Amino acid sequence: VAPLKVGIAGLGTVGAEVVRLIETQARVLAGRSGRGIRVVAVTARSKAKKRGVDLRGVEWAKDPLALATHPEVDCFVELMGGAGDPALAAVEAALNAGKSVVTANKALLAKHGIKLAKAAEKHGGALNFEAAVGAAIPVIKTLREGLAGTGVNRVYGILNGTCNYILTRMEQEGLSFAECLKDAQRLGYAEADPSFDVDGHDTAQKLAILASLAFGTKVAQSAVYVEGISSIAPEDLRAAADLGYRVKLLGVAVRTAKGIEQRVHPTMVPKSSSIAQVMGVTNAVTIDGEGIPPITLVGPGAGGAATASAVVADIADVARGIRANPFGRPISHLHDTTKAPMERH
Ligand code: HSE
Repeated sequence: VAPLKVGIAGLGTVGAEVVRLIETQARVLAGRSGRGIRVVAVTARSKAKKRGVDLRGVEWAKDPLALATHPEVDCFVELMGGAGDPALAAVEAALNAGKSVVTANKALLAKHGIKLAKAAEKHGGALNFEAAVGAAIPVIKTLREGLAGTGVNRVYGILNGTCNYILTRMEQEGLSFAECLKDAQRLGYAEADPSFDVDGHDTAQKLAILASLAFGTKVAQSAVYVEGISSIAPEDLRAAADLGYRVKLLGVAVRTAKGIEQRVHPTMVPKSSSIAQVMGVTNAVTIDGEGIPPITLVGPGAGGAATASAVVADIADVARGIRANPFGRPISHLHDTTKAPMERH
């Protein structure tokens, strides 16, 4: 069988690690996929930057769009980020050309997921985004391909590694918010614009994706009520601790009589609860299914290696010929998420 030919747009921490994994894990991946995986072309802002990966024999495409429509590329891997162009135009072009797409771009999916899923459905390519939520934790696969026949009543969790890292260090070491954020940036957890993390928008994007998979709603970040952690001080955490609580930034999507409620805000959780034990850059997602006890997935939610492992798993699925409906069901089966953001209560 011919190898799957991959084009990668974006060679930051995650992109470079994906190239490295495809090279070093070639045998394991071929065993898992039944065929080889080969990076044939890439594109990135700087060609000169040192990345510590071997790109000899790999073509440099002129721009993301040229890579997305490159005749040699079967699977376009988008790791540039950002809800608009060039990511949007490139992903759309790849899908319209019948190629499969793997992306870690939650912002793009939360804004244009339905349009992109329609293009995938129409032209037959896969649209995989395991790395967009919970990095290495296989939460998309669990909701999309697991849990068959089980209705979901609630999905919630800690979805932003940067915020959980900040809250943990503020609580444990009494450090200021700004100091902790600087460390999260240095460690490569934070977004390019860290206000997306600390103001809760990153969590909202991830929650909108999970809610779509869990409840069949059309993914829409605008339906999520959002409040971040930037006004929290170490004293607030101490006060919560005195009462037996910890503060966590939670994303919660829940089925109510009035529809699907989606919200993100700092929440006091009892110290004895399992979610309170989730510390540092770790993420946790709990799925409350119909008639079964809750399922909780816990693991590294940010960082180059954790994100790259999910990207490579998605590429391996494409190589194997697995093509799931991007949001778990045909687009015509998804219902509108028209609810205005909730007031906090
Ligand atoms: N900035 C994100 C986080 C990266 O801190 O969780 C992973 O999506």
